[in-house]
Amino acid sequence: MQKLLHTFAALADLGQEIADTGDFQEMVRTSLHLVLGSLAIMRGAVTEYDSDARALRFLAARGLGGELPEYLTLDSETVDGLLHAGLSALTFESEEAGHVMLARHRKFLAAHRIELLLPLVVRGRLVGLILLGDKASGEAFTAEDRDVLCAMGRHIGVGIQERRLLEELEHRAIENRHLYEDLRAIYQDTVRAFAAAIDCKDKYTQGHSERVGKYSEIIAREMGWSDEEVEGIAVAGYLHDIGKLVVERDILNAPYRIDAKQSSELNRHPAAGYEILSPIHHPYADISLMARYHHERLDGRGYPEGLTGDQIPLGAKIVALADSFDAMTTDRPYKRRRSLDEVVEDFRRNTGKQFDPEVVIALCRALLKEINGETGDRRILRLLGKGYVDKELIAPLISELITELESGTHMTAAQA
Ligand SMILES: [Fe+2]
Repeated sequence: MQKLLHTFAALADLGQEIADTGDFQEMVRTSLHLVLGSLAIMRGAVTEYDSDARALRFLAARGLGGELPEYLTLDSETVDGLLHAGLSALTFESEEAGHVMLARHRKFLAAHRIELLLPLVVRGRLVGLILLGDKASGEAFTAEDRDVLCAMGRHIGVGIQERRLLEELEHRAIENRHLYEDLRAIYQDTVRAFAAAIDCKDKYTQGHSERVGKYSEIIAREMGWSDEEVEGIAVAGYLHDIGKLVVERDILNAPYRIDAKQSSELNRHPAAGYEILSPIHHPYADISLMARYHHERLDGRGYPEGLTGDQIPLGAKIVALADSFDAMTTDRPYKRRRSLDEVVEDFRRNTGKQFDPEVVIALCRALLKEINGETGDRRILRLLGKGYVDKELIAPLISELITELESGTHMTAAQA
């Protein structure tokens, strides 16, 4: 009875140990300790079977002394023998598999006085082998002893198998992440290639799509958008004019102001962009909608749908402002770029009618931070080019506009 209780306690401990521990090596060491302790066995080792190497690798050993080899190689006959024996304690003299095993490693097993082999077979797969010496008392192993050992072996085998599955999962997860990163890089490259193609077609707006992507990104970041949302809005900026690919080159490249008919042809591009982008499964939300609505205005006088205020997605409002800002600050065939104070004045006049106040405030803040040297990177200033920004003149104008827009004294679309 005493012995039985002891055995049960050991089994319970072992189950707990395997369930609790996050440290595999520690789990194996403790398990071996419990197995040896439960029957007062002096020596033993737990090995794991590596089917690729066709060898047993030592995970933990006790009382074997000296240097252990890194591996015990097994031939297929031995593996078959162990699998056939299944979870049972094999003694040296009587069992066939034991003989096969011993034939190859006779010297090693004899030197370490191993008496018993316990194959760890889980769901028909050999996951390891426990090697055990004799009992401290010198008595032979009884049938009950072997049953106890097999029960413990089952726990340990499952523990090893579980760790393997986890490792495999981790490996797959890492592989998946790499695949995902590759896909993402391909997507980003494709987006940039498209942006370059769009800008190529329209020779007067070289680099426009790229700049709109960057301005949109800066505005969204200033508005506190998450990294992923910021990446998304950059893509929307890069692709906002993709519909221009279906507009005739002559209209895009007209060196004069285009007439009404040409203008309506040109104005097809947001809807065309939506048609091109909406069948694509983008990793970010609403890319196609931002292209569709980047020429809408708060007061409803934009196109293609004449949406007003909150009907226009915030992303489209950001791209719209980035688009206008770049249009005003770069030379076009029929007009030179405006000075930055004129741009600020345009914002003052058109915020609430054309532009969303929140978005204008964000762009102004980001620009002001760069002018005042509050931020390490000077992305907007670099995009605007050297010598364009008269900091002394412009900083107070921007501050003033921000205050005005923030205080809400500015005219809203409804009041206009
Ligand atoms: Fe556009």
